[in-house]
Amino acid sequence: MTELLGLSILELCYIAASITFIMGLKMLSSPDKARKGNLLAAYGMGIAIIATILFKEELTADKWLNYTLILAGLVVGTVIGTRMALKVQMTAMPQMVSFFNGMGGACAAVISLVEFDHILHTGEVELGMMIVIILGLIIGSVSFSGSIIAYGKLEGKIGDKALPAGQILNIVLLLAILGLGTFMAISGEPQAMYIYILLGLSLLYGVLFVMPIGGADMPVVISLLNSFTGMAAAFGGFLYGNQAMLTGGILVGSAGTILTVLMCTAMNRSLTNVIIGSFGGGGAAASGDGEQGTIKEISATDAAILLAYANKVSVVPGYGLAVAQAQHTVHNLEKILDDKGVEMTYAIHPVAGRMPGHMNVLLAEADVPYPKLLEMEEANDDMSNTDVVLVIGANDVVNPAAENDPSSPIYGMPIVDVLSAKNVIVMKRSMGKGYAGIENALFFHDKNRMLFGDAKDSLEKLIAEVKNL
Ligand code: TAP
Repeated sequence: MTELLGLSILELCYIAASITFIMGLKMLSSPDKARKGNLLAAYGMGIAIIATILFKEELTADKWLNYTLILAGLVVGTVIGTRMALKVQMTAMPQMVSFFNGMGGACAAVISLVEFDHILHTGEVELGMMIVIILGLIIGSVSFSGSIIAYGKLEGKIGDKALPAGQILNIVLLLAILGLGTFMAISGEPQAMYIYILLGLSLLYGVLFVMPIGGADMPVVISLLNSFTGMAAAFGGFLYGNQAMLTGGILVGSAGTILTVLMCTAMNRSLTNVIIGSFGGGGAAASGDGEQGTIKEISATDAAILLAYANKVSVVPGYGLAVAQAQHTVHNLEKILDDKGVEMTYAIHPVAGRMPGHMNVLLAEADVPYPKLLEMEEANDDMSNTDVVLVIGANDVVNPAAENDPSSPIYGMPIVDVLSAKNVIVMKRSMGKGYAGIENALFFHDKNRMLFGDAKDSLEKLIAEVKNL
C-alpha cells in the first residue's frame, strides 16, 4: 500500500470516528438511545486507535518495541477499565468518572512532555506549537491531580482541608504558572528544567484547587475538570494534526462546560460559589434549622391504602433511593399499582442524586419505561391532579425553603412542588439532613406523613400491604 493511500484511509477513519462521537453524544440525550450512543462512540474510538496504529506510519519490524508497548498499554487499560466498569456501584459512579478523567488529563500532559522533548532534540521552536504544548501540559496536569484528589474525597480517603490563606496561595500559584508558561513560550529557548517546574506547579495547583472544596460539591468540580481534560486532549489533537482527537477533545470540553453550567443553574449557585463556598461541606449556614413543629408518621398499612385507592401517584426519587438500591423494588410497586389501575409516574429533579442523570440511569437499569420518567416541570404541571406523592430518599429537591426562605443556601433552586398534591409521604430512615445540610419544613407540613426506614425495606413492606388489599 502506498503511503498516500494509507494516510487517506487514516483521514477517512478519523472523519468516521468524529461522526460517531457527535452522533453518540446526541444519542446520550435520550435515555432509550444512551446505551447505543455510548457504544457507537466507543466503536469510533476503537476505529481511530486501530487506524492510527496501521496507517499513521509504515509498519516496520524495527519498531517492534513501540508496537509491543502500545499493545501492552491497550491490554492493561482494557482489562483495568472493564473490571472497574463492571464492578462499580451506581452510587460510586462519580468517583469512577473522576478517576478516568484524571487518566485523560495525565495522557494530555505526557503528550506535551514528549513533544517538548522532541523540540529539545530537534531545536525547532515554533511559537504556536510551544503555546499548544504548554497549555496542554498545564491543563492536563491540573486535571490529573485535581481529579485524583476528587476521587479520593468521594471514596472517603481524603477529607476537606483548607490551608490558611488558601485562596491567596492558589491565586499566586496560578499567576506563577501563567507567568512561567508565557516566558517559556516567548523566550524561544526551551529548557528541560522549566517544563518540569511548570509540571510540578500545575500538579500542585490541581491538588490545592480541589482540596478545600466540600466533598458534596465534587460532581460539579468533576464536570469542570472533565471540560479541562477535553481541552487538553484537543490541544493534543492540534499538536498531531489528529482530527479525531481534536473533535473528541472539543466535544468533551464543551459538554463538560455546559454540564457544569447546567448543574450550577439547577442548584441556583454560581461556579465561584461552588469553588470557594463550603456548601454541603459542613460550613454552610444551616438555614431553616431549629424547632419546626411536629411530624406525623404513617404506617405501611395506611400508606398502602392511600396508594391502592389513588388514581395518580407520583414518585420523587432521590439520593437515598440510590443508596438503598431500591430501584427494582420501586418498579415492582409501580407494576402492582398498575395492575390495580393506579397510574404511577416519576418526577425527576435535574440534580436529584449525586450526578447528572443519576435517577434516570438508576430507574432505566430497573427497566422503568421511559415515558414514566417525567422532567420536573412536566411533573409539577400535573401535581395538583396527583393523589399521593411518594418522596423516596429525596430531601433538598423537595425542600420548600428553596421557594420561601431567602436566607436558605438553596433559595432559588427549583424544586418538585409536592405540596400541590393531595397527600405526601416521605420515605427516609430518620430526620437526617440531605446534601445541603439543612432542615426541611416539608417533613413538618400538615399534608405530609413520614414513613421511616430504609427505602428498600419500606417499599417491600408497601408492596406486601398493597398485595393484601
Ligand atoms: P439529598 O438532599 O442528599 O437527601 C437524600 C436523603 O436520602 C437524606 O436526607 C437521607 O435521609 C435519605 N437516605 C439516605 N439513605 C437512605 C436509605 N437507605 N433509605 C432511605 N432514605 C435514605 O438528596 P436529593 O433530594 O436527591 O438531592 C440531591 C442533592 O445533591 C441536591 O442538594 C443537589 O444540589 C446535590 N447535588 C446534586 C448533583 C447532581 S448532578 N445530581 C450534583 C451536585 C450536588 P436519612 O439519612 O434520614 O435516611
